[in-house]
Amino acid sequence: MKNRILVVDDEHLIRWSLEQNLKKQGYDVSVAGSGEDALRILQEETPDLMLLDIQLPGMNGLEVLEKIKELEDDVVVIMVTALGVLETAVKAMRLGAHDYINKPFNLDELAIVIKKALETRELKREVAHLRAAQPRPFGIGGIIGNSGDLQHVLNMVRKIAKSDAGTVLIQGESGTGKELIAKAIHYEGGRAEKPFMAINCAAVPETLLESELLGHEKGAFTDAKSQKKGLFEMAHGGTVFLDEIGDMPLAIQAKLLRVLEDRTFRRVGGTRDVHVDIRIVSATNKDLLQAIADKTFRNDLYYRLQVIPIFLPPLRERRADIPLLVSHFIENFNREFAKNVKRISPQAEKILLEYAWPGNIRELRNVIERAVILENEETIESSHLPRELVAQAVPSSSGPISFSLPPEGIDIEDVERELIRQALEASDGNQSKAAKKLNLGIDAFRYRMKKFKFL
Ligand SMILES: Nc1ncnc2c1ncn2[C@@H]1O[C@H](COP(=O)(O)OP(=O)(O)OP(=O)(O)O)[C@@H](O)[C@H]1O
Ligand SMILES: [Mg+2]
Repeated sequence: MKNRILVVDDEHLIRWSLEQNLKKQGYDVSVAGSGEDALRILQEETPDLMLLDIQLPGMNGLEVLEKIKELEDDVVVIMVTALGVLETAVKAMRLGAHDYINKPFNLDELAIVIKKALETRELKREVAHLRAAQPRPFGIGGIIGNSGDLQHVLNMVRKIAKSDAGTVLIQGESGTGKELIAKAIHYEGGRAEKPFMAINCAAVPETLLESELLGHEKGAFTDAKSQKKGLFEMAHGGTVFLDEIGDMPLAIQAKLLRVLEDRTFRRVGGTRDVHVDIRIVSATNKDLLQAIADKTFRNDLYYRLQVIPIFLPPLRERRADIPLLVSHFIENFNREFAKNVKRISPQAEKILLEYAWPGNIRELRNVIERAVILENEETIESSHLPRELVAQAVPSSSGPISFSLPPEGIDIEDVERELIRQALEASDGNQSKAAKKLNLGIDAFRYRMKKFKFL
């Protein structure tokens, strides 16, 4: 498609010669003799580029430019000035002109300016398009689930990200997506272009953790050959993610308290206070209240940390998310392993829906990864799910029955004997109560007691 150029100049001869020349270069050309005319034309057609004279009768070029930028931001404007007055040109650029050219100009020079301007615009459009098409790698878009619980969490994440709230504590079992949430808070917020620095407090030895977080001065300890910035400083302007905060040693908890209070600390071996602007997101799968009771976690730190608490419920409490997560992971692993799995069989899905998922979403992800790798057909069958998972999946409707057939099989008499024993135990040896518990008459019960040598 041809690019369209609108030439705005009050001199008929200039309009005419530009029109001829630009048409010869392959552009569609419209002309206007005044700013008012130009604005009228803009209502009807959308040129890709405008050559706009500054000196016009009526509205001058700058006024026209201002109006255009209100109406239509996509058109590239090149100002034409006879004055060569830098000030006007600067003003035009500030108002959103792409470039300017001085009159009298040479047509070859003009051709280059136009070509470059159109190329730049094309690039900008492509980038904008790519940005819009590509979900942000760690944004909310990558967090899958339609359960009310998860939607509630995501709403909080959106609000927190927007508000720049400084301190957030994420609690949830292992594999529930705590790190994913921490990243979403960072990447959906105003700090997205600044660093996201994560540290796993359980994985770093105590002696190192302090200097990792706070940094150290030269000579602070034997190995401190030079000054080093810590995580808090490196994350300046961005977010620090303190993972497994429940495992942070008490001595470091005390230092963290000060950072939380006024974003100030001293490097190890330092004498000067360092101030940083950081958001602090922490996560733990521990019960911090229990840790406080056990005296392994500071009470005051807990209250500082959980200014905004987020609870990620375990997967077994939001089973509604399972089908969506399954299709999401199938899609991902199809791509990764060049597979073409299309669906999961109803039996296999039922197993996934009934399983307790102690490892939560991470475990589900691993199960699907394995199944996609093993699957050569389009449907994941239950035979491609791990055996222990198939064995443990318990129909949730079956109430109190919570055992399952072990893969190696079992003697049914052993089961009966164990049930009789448990019934007697639960009834403090009262035989008629125990019989009722198993829905047996007293004679049938006593018969079994004898058979299994309880009498
Ligand atoms: N809602 C979700 N949608 C898609 N993927 C998810 C979701 N929740 C978790 N995951 C995936 O599950 C895995 C575990 O998530 P993550 O590492 O965030 O959990 P965690 O709570 O930090 O676990 P841990 O306590 O073991 O560190 C990751 O691969 C993550 O991408
Ligand atoms: Mg984690």
